[in-house]
Amino acid sequence: MAIKELTRMGNPVLREVAQEYDISAIGSEAFSSLIDDLVDTMNENGGIGIAAPQIGISSQVAIIKIPGDSERYPNAAESELFIIVNPIIEVLDQELQGFWEGCLSVPGLRGFVQRPRKVKVTYYNQDAKKSEIVLEDFLATVFQHELDHLFGKLYIDRVKDLSKLSYEDEYVQFWSNT
Ligand code: NI
Repeated sequence: MAIKELTRMGNPVLREVAQEYDISAIGSEAFSSLIDDLVDTMNENGGIGIAAPQIGISSQVAIIKIPGDSERYPNAAESELFIIVNPIIEVLDQELQGFWEGCLSVPGLRGFVQRPRKVKVTYYNQDAKKSEIVLEDFLATVFQHELDHLFGKLYIDRVKDLSKLSYEDEYVQFWSNT
């Protein structure tokens, strides 16, 4: 277990399509240690999700865990720990919903992003079992944000109205109640 250094915007690893993870390696010591590193690094930085490229590893592995008491996302409902390998995402409802997103790889900023409100994600879980989950509301946005990291995208690519790209202090002052 270790807290890893976060890669930040500008690091090319965040712009690559990550390599598919070898499914037969799920459950190995290397896999467990990668998951532990992701959990530790996410928790240390107050995140609610993190993807392997954010610790410099270009593999299609991401985790999501919304704690009940997130300081960065106080209105978000608690979630289980999702371990997501080689995901495929399918939009089930094109209707858009908007949230103010932040990212551990883009520190200090928040931006308003609109994404489809309902998606289906097919992925391998920590038992190498093919799994399917349908997501709505904020969790649908969190999944889309994290899975974007596996395909070279950052949320700021999706901020349509740059007047809604904000420093965190100004976000709290002017936007957090909107
Ligand atoms: Ni992010």
